[in-house]
Amino acid sequence: MRHLMSPLDFSVEELDELFQLADDIQANPAKYAHACEGKKLATCFYEPSTRTRLSFEAAMINLGGNVIGFSDANSSSAAKGESVSDTIRIISCYADICAMRHPKEGAPMVAASKSSIPVINAGDGGHQHPTQTLTDLLTIRSLKGRLNNFTIGLCGDLKFGRTVHSLINALVRYDNISFVFISPDELRIPEYIIEMLKEKNIPYSEVTKLEDVLPDLDILYMTRVQKERFFNEEDYVRLKDFYILNKEKMELAKEDMIILHPLPRVNEISVEVDDDPRAVYFKQVQYGVYVRMALLLTLLGIKVTA
Ligand code: NCD
Repeated sequence: MRHLMSPLDFSVEELDELFQLADDIQANPAKYAHACEGKKLATCFYEPSTRTRLSFEAAMINLGGNVIGFSDANSSSAAKGESVSDTIRIISCYADICAMRHPKEGAPMVAASKSSIPVINAGDGGHQHPTQTLTDLLTIRSLKGRLNNFTIGLCGDLKFGRTVHSLINALVRYDNISFVFISPDELRIPEYIIEMLKEKNIPYSEVTKLEDVLPDLDILYMTRVQKERFFNEEDYVRLKDFYILNKEKMELAKEDMIILHPLPRVNEISVEVDDDPRAVYFKQVQYGVYVRMALLLTLLGIKVTA
């Protein structure tokens, strides 16, 4: 039995197989429409979510399976003091696979250690968000045609943004990628990531001003300031509108640069940018469904032939 806690749980070759499966699902949805008949996915979300939970549910429904779950810790027995370890033992009796989001780093890992069904980390605190990374990689692979040879700028809350941490972890395994970290000083990328890049001799730079580096980027990954992970409101208010990507700034960017965003967007991308063909963050959401379908099939060990 296999869980998904971090994007590194899959080798580069396994990721490639997963993306090929996602491509085939996109091209032939009918072929997969009954693949998970009789299977149940449990979505256990102890933290707010729109895309991740609903895209998992849509993915399972597209595969002909069913979903159960909760979307709020207060409506589960966590509110009565039940531990994640106990909850997953219960869920293991009801479902075939579980996607779990939790505000505490490592909670899905604890669940996995007690679970008799595959557990997918759907985001744990400021730590990792592997299925968003799968979504990001599939989007880049589909729209850029490759997962190597590019300069990617990651902009916004690089300190608390778990999607950023997971994506960097995954990208360092591909050739010739350079990173540009764009953040206010208070929200810089964690030191352990910088150390990892240094160790692997991967080029990176850290800047504060987006305009200075926009012309160099092949991919711009925008993120919101993670309000819920701040200790005080004042700091959040001061930093929340630090970056606002608008039409004018987009004039500095390459013709074929793509803008990704894990969403939700708050103010960091002005809505006027949405019509720019380089803004692909809504397409990215659709790729998220295909890749989660591929992931469910893979972790459940279901192969669809013909
Ligand atoms: C992200 C998350 O939950 O970390 N959202 C998502 O799953 N697409 C990003 C965010 O909340 O900013």
